[in-house]
Amino acid sequence: ALVNVVLRVNGTEHRLSLDPRTTLLDALREHLHLTGSKKGCGLGQCGACTVLMDGKRVKSCLSLAALVDSREITTIEGLAQGEQLHPLQTAFIERDAFQCGYCTSGQIMAGVACIAEGHAHSAQEIREWMSGNLCRCGAYDHIVAAIQDAAG
Ligand code: FES
Repeated sequence: ALVNVVLRVNGTEHRLSLDPRTTLLDALREHLHLTGSKKGCGLGQCGACTVLMDGKRVKSCLSLAALVDSREITTIEGLAQGEQLHPLQTAFIERDAFQCGYCTSGQIMAGVACIAEGHAHSAQEIREWMSGNLCRCGAYDHIVAAIQDAAG
């Protein structure tokens, strides 16, 4: 049987009827067509699916959509204010902090949480916070530099 779920994403409320096993990631990508969040491993190990829930980072492949009912979800699509990119998005561009780009949305969402939660005081601290977000291209130094820039 399907369950009714209210998903609040980037300030908009969506009412969906979902299989109770639907992950938040699949709900975002397949039901709301917000495809910025990526599925890498689907097992909680790569971080490509990272979004914010009530401001805290979560791996959306590990969250069931039905269990995040009415929480405030922010995805990469919700970071910019109109034409104005989020400062961390700008820093990623300026620092060349991606190559293929597959992990980038997750990296940026984890980086936003890193700064917001006060874990961006040093490169080492940023590296530890970001250790759950893998980058096959090995852009780690640039990612850390971008987060440092945006953290001021
Ligand atoms: Fe969620 Fe890899 S897709 S952690």
